Amino acid sequence: MNYVYILECEDGSYYTGWTVDLQKRYEAHCAGAGAKYTRMHRPVRIAYYEEYADRQEAMRREYRIKKMTRKEKEKLTGSAIVKNTGLNHNIHKRRNNMELKFYRCNKCKKIVVQLNKAGCPTMCCGEAMTEMRVGTTDGAVEKHVPAVTKADGKLIVKVGSVDHPMLDNHYIEFIVVEYTDGFRIKYLNPGDAPCAEFEAEGAVAVYEYCNLHGLWKTEL
Ligand SMILES: [Fe+2]
Repeated sequence: MNYVYILECEDGSYYTGWTVDLQKRYEAHCAGAGAKYTRMHRPVRIAYYEEYADRQEAMRREYRIKKMTRKEKEKLTGSAIVKNTGLNHNIHKRRNNMELKFYRCNKCKKIVVQLNKAGCPTMCCGEAMTEMRVGTTDGAVEKHVPAVTKADGKLIVKVGSVDHPMLDNHYIEFIVVEYTDGFRIKYLNPGDAPCAEFEAEGAVAVYEYCNLHGLWKTEL
């Protein structure tokens, strides 16, 4: 089957495309691998699609929709002629908010959290900051991966299953809990216990940052 589709992007704009596998194509767009436009304007839902047995017909229709005005496209997306072909509609409920990302400057070691999507790199000391990947150093796993337990609505986070050192030159700088609607951070200092308490409701992941061994994460 051939599909002509309109995606609604997070800035409210529309993207029109053609494919033989709508589900797969939509996932690619969401992952930033579908098209240049959707990499910069990530889709939040499939606003409209039509099915065509004939490929040429689908491509012609895609071309015609692309030529439409915004108003004409709105008319289409509001017409709700979305046929049920067993497509997984849960994917349409893709979270509109950001995936939590940490960046570090290789020169001054500054760390920043990116709060929204943008197409250009975050710069510091004249160069692009590096996205910090979790668990990519040779630090001991048991001393770095956050050990998380839940009790009475609280999330008790320890770093890690074996206590991490909290020395002047080697310590956990912060623990971050990512929630469905945001994140919370607890800063730590040398001499503190390598642990913290947070609200448990809505928590989806816990990160910690060791000044020598980088970022580590536990998914909840
Ligand atoms: Fe460490």
